[in-house]
Amino acid sequence: MANRHFGKLSDVWKHAALTEVLEREAPRGYAETHAGSAAYPIARDAERRFGILRFLDVAAGSEALARSRYRAITASWLDGHGLYPGSALLAMSVLGDAARYLLCDLDPRSAADLRRWAGELSLHHCEIAQADGMAAVAAWLDRRGGQPGLVHVDPFDPDACGSGGYSAFDLAVRVADRGFPLVYWYGYDRPADQARACTRLTARTRAPLWCGDLMVTGDLGRATTPGTGFGVILANLQADTVAACAAVGNALADAYAGALLPDGSPGGLIFTTRTSGRAA
Ligand SMILES: C[S@@+](CC[C@H](N)C(=O)[O-])C[C@H]1O[C@@H](n2cnc3c(N)ncnc32)[C@H](O)[C@@H]1O
Repeated sequence: MANRHFGKLSDVWKHAALTEVLEREAPRGYAETHAGSAAYPIARDAERRFGILRFLDVAAGSEALARSRYRAITASWLDGHGLYPGSALLAMSVLGDAARYLLCDLDPRSAADLRRWAGELSLHHCEIAQADGMAAVAAWLDRRGGQPGLVHVDPFDPDACGSGGYSAFDLAVRVADRGFPLVYWYGYDRPADQARACTRLTARTRAPLWCGDLMVTGDLGRATTPGTGFGVILANLQADTVAACAAVGNALADAYAGALLPDGSPGGLIFTTRTSGRAA
């Protein structure tokens, strides 16, 4: 397992937004550059108590969170298997056998876990590529031509170039420009960098973008290293889908008001949206 960050608060926002998008857009294709493992044995440490475990506790008290498919799926995987579902398994759970998948990860154990769960869920059109995700997804876009498919780009390092010469950021630009639905994740560890990913992407693509950003307030402390904030950038989606993601982001910030951070100090979340780089 190469992904040690599963189930943290950053995953909660990324995955809650991704699940809204998948449910509402129902794409016939789903490609992911950095898929990780399908599922992760849950750890009950301070990070997850602030992340997925707190989310499940507070979601019942929030209309938008209580009815979210993300809540239903994560609760069922945690209760039934003691596992946290990663983005690829969430996609498999929402889209089922109706979609075609390309799930990429360089890590052999992550690729094996993706294969295992694609088999358990009897998916007939699920390609797992133990390969550079940017090159594999770029080729997938060319193969699929005008056929709709959603691309999820979730890199550790947006500027690291893979074997095909593309960085994750370059690929996101290409996806947005070609009119394919895009979900792009970013993180930052200084509040001054909050708008950076959105401003940068806006400068490189003609596609209108929406960015939903959650910044953790208070002193993060070691337990939440490495980030003070994170967000998702969406392109080429319906207005209703974007509005649903905004409602979930606002509900998350409300549900975390007065939360204690993993180190016990008081904190909370600020939710900010931007449209094509401008704060809304
Ligand atoms: C943050 S994790 C992915 C988490 C997953 N998308 C989710 O949300 O549940 C990042 C993954 O990227 C993989 N990775 C790193 N560089 C890669 C590359 N160039 N192509 C494909 N996978 C890569 C790592 O092995 C790791 O499993």
